[in-house]
Amino acid sequence: MQILITGAAGFIGFNLAKYLLRTSNAKIIGIDSLNNYYSKKLKKDRIKELSKFKKFSFSQTNIINKRKLEKIFKIKKINLIINLAAQAGVRYSLEKPSEFVDNNIQGFYSLIDIANKYNIKKIIYASSSSIYGDSKKFPLKENQNVIPKNIYSLSKKINEEMAEVFSRQYDISFVGLRFFTVYGEWGRPDMFMMKYLASSYDKKINFYLNNYGKHTRDFTYILDACKIISKLVFTKKKINHEIFNICSNNPKKLTDVIKKINFLTQKKPKLFKRKLQQADVVKTHGTNKKIKSFIGNQSFTSLDDGLKITVEWFKHYYKI
Ligand SMILES: NC(=O)c1ccc[n+]([C@@H]2O[C@H](COP(=O)([O-])OP(=O)(O)OC[C@H]3O[C@@H](n4cnc5c(N)ncnc54)[C@H](O)[C@@H]3O)[C@@H](O)[C@H]2O)c1
Repeated sequence: MQILITGAAGFIGFNLAKYLLRTSNAKIIGIDSLNNYYSKKLKKDRIKELSKFKKFSFSQTNIINKRKLEKIFKIKKINLIINLAAQAGVRYSLEKPSEFVDNNIQGFYSLIDIANKYNIKKIIYASSSSIYGDSKKFPLKENQNVIPKNIYSLSKKINEEMAEVFSRQYDISFVGLRFFTVYGEWGRPDMFMMKYLASSYDKKINFYLNNYGKHTRDFTYILDACKIISKLVFTKKKINHEIFNICSNNPKKLTDVIKKINFLTQKKPKLFKRKLQQADVVKTHGTNKKIKSFIGNQSFTSLDDGLKITVEWFKHYYKI
């Protein structure tokens, strides 16, 4: 089996590619535009790590570029697409909305189009928990109303709607994944946890605690997410279009997470507290009943264990 993973130099794409290379016989073709949204060095280091596997190949390709995509599909016999390429970052969506329209909406269409042309039967794609907006109905359920608050979340809602339409129009099954704050080794430097660790070990880096730390997030450990996606790759169950929350169903206040990290690092960086940022939602907490009943029982790593591994990785990678 040959799997195309888009966004393979990104946090989730990289970890998933590594997991599948380790645990299955699948060949992985990774593509990524290697954009400048955060450290290019980190993205290149991830690709370097994946290149240790013979079954992995990489091409710096933008999913919007149909001509370049076509070249790949002509040469490789791809069976399945996992779309993890996107412009992420809720706050950045206020600064550069066009990046979200181009990469997330147009980019997704371009993949669907090529998948149809080359007879690809399944597309697994990333959505987001931010799609629920400021909903107060917890735990958040896949079938409840979604009210995106910004163009990032809207791009994910549009992706889900595109998947719904094309699952009926084409012979392609779609699986949408609403990720809830995924964290772990090789994590994203623009997200809370890596920012907090960076500030813990470098006094020159200020840490801004949004909403005075009153945010609650359903933190989900990266390896749990990879195991779930792998089961969705290999399932024989018939799917037209399904959407799943990918979450641990274990929400935690940021102030509590900070205490846990301080205990592990034995550091206590200064907190620059500030008000709620415009694009942010205050709380995420999803139910994971649907994914559990679909793939069979799935355990979730405790935040304490996940944090321990994350801190160790951080110290190792950044040579602390
Ligand atoms: N990490 C999370 O907690 C989280 C939560 C909700 C949703 N998601 C979604 O999961 C997916 C993966 O997220 P991530 O955390 O790995 O983000 P990431 O930014 O680390 O990875 C995305 C990768 O896609 C690449 N990319 C962007 N536009 C591209 C394009 N047009 N063509 C090719 N490559 C392109 C980037 O260079 C980057 O390496 C994204 O769709 C994101 O919105 C992530």
